[in-house]
Amino acid sequence: MTDKLIIFDTTLRDGEQSPGAAMTREKKIRIARQLEKLGVDVIEAGFAAASIGDFEAVKAVAETVRESTVCSLARASENDVRRAGEAIAPAKSGRIHTFIATSPIHMQHKLRMNEDQVVERAVQAVKWALEYTDDVEFSAEDAVRSDMDFLVRVFDAVIKAGARTMNVPDTVGYSIPAAWGERISQLIQRVPNSDKVIWSTHCHNDLGLAVANSLSAVLNGARQVECTINGLGERAGNAALEEIVMAVKTRRDIFNLDTRIDTTQIVPTSKLVSSITGYPVQPNKAIVGANAFAHESGIHQDGVLKHRETYEIMRAEDVGWNANKLTLGKLSGRNALRQRFASLNVEFASEEAFNAAFARFKELADRKLEIFDEDLQALVSDDVIAQVDEHYRLVSLRAHCETGILPVARVVMSIGGGLFDAEMQGGGPVDATFKAIEKIVHSGTELQLYSVNNITSGTDAQGEVTVRLAKAGRIVNGQGADTDIVVASAHAYLNALNKLHVSSERAHPQV
Ligand code: KIV
Ligand code: ZN
Repeated sequence: MTDKLIIFDTTLRDGEQSPGAAMTREKKIRIARQLEKLGVDVIEAGFAAASIGDFEAVKAVAETVRESTVCSLARASENDVRRAGEAIAPAKSGRIHTFIATSPIHMQHKLRMNEDQVVERAVQAVKWALEYTDDVEFSAEDAVRSDMDFLVRVFDAVIKAGARTMNVPDTVGYSIPAAWGERISQLIQRVPNSDKVIWSTHCHNDLGLAVANSLSAVLNGARQVECTINGLGERAGNAALEEIVMAVKTRRDIFNLDTRIDTTQIVPTSKLVSSITGYPVQPNKAIVGANAFAHESGIHQDGVLKHRETYEIMRAEDVGWNANKLTLGKLSGRNALRQRFASLNVEFASEEAFNAAFARFKELADRKLEIFDEDLQALVSDDVIAQVDEHYRLVSLRAHCETGILPVARVVMSIGGGLFDAEMQGGGPVDATFKAIEKIVHSGTELQLYSVNNITSGTDAQGEVTVRLAKAGRIVNGQGADTDIVVASAHAYLNALNKLHVSSERAHPQV
């Protein structure tokens, strides 16, 4: 008899807490649809009480997704829980995930509450949540540094109150596998009625042990794992969904557990999340890194060619590599493009929005022979889908590079409809371009990160650029894609400036 392992994806909530990874409603919907296709059981769509935009995004995901449970995070406060309840109301299956810190350090310094008050608040939060759904999850934040007797008391109380999933987070990524497994096992042994609820684990990767700790929890009785695509998340991130799922599947002899995940959707999901958040995947990342199935050494290649299993424990096609279909080319028409976008879950706000995407596609097809799904995903930024006018827009760019001469860039851009231009020299064409943009906008931002990735292979591939800018405590990631990486860089820079231009006030759930 195999048991089921529940996959709870928190890319849209904990993943979104990575610097600059905040997502718009449209982006969340695109990722949520893909997560549904991937087969995750629960999608944590956000923290509804964070802002009006976050509330709307969770609600939109709840309206869209049909095959997965849609969940909102809520601190253990009446306002948070009610906002979460209202946001998940349209879901076919909705969950409220409420939490409160249980470690002495958090209770004393963050909450300024004693143990009795924390238990009382946890129980009250579960009761408020039950007014909206019978699917209530409770998390004891910083469980890793909480006193075991107190944890038993809190979990006992919330089970009595009616919560049905008990999440045990290693909030600060402090544990090691043996200790984490022991903690889960102890809780299951000591908490009354522990067999009536699902035990869940939520591990952060500060010591690089999030996946190992989660798997140890599973071996000790946890039946839900909270994880994110590509391991995205606060600081060093969360446990990577793809690694958990493939470990459980590949070592079924040890885990004897099934998930609902369609593993062939793993790589497409990874690429979508990376392109939307601007967080590239390192080449040697397990499962979804570009090198994960590449065999460099002659000995390995020889072995793999003679008998695949000599060096491969999984098949690349089983996790969705090679699934990037040659989609379209220069001669493809509007219908073909429309259908392809539909299969990628991209919906346009209007016919004009689709026309704008078609124009971009034709422009790209003139420069690139073969256009893949990833190229199309990069083509449709929010402004194209929702057809919003960007405040800062690139009109034209000329960059000149020659050996022995300082590169120079001339930028023409529109700001709120008016045209501006500037020319600057720089250490390279990208540097010169950014300097020219800054000469026009004087943004006062700090450039925190600049990275370029090729979307597909080949020298005619589009370069996907991420620019992270910080200003007055706000951090945003801007993305741009083009076969010319200087142009892609300019788009990414302006995309980041546009994000900063839109004022945004959001609460962070754990601060
Ligand atoms: O890391 C953590 O403790 C969390 C909780 C809110 C579950 O993200
Ligand atoms: Zn977390």
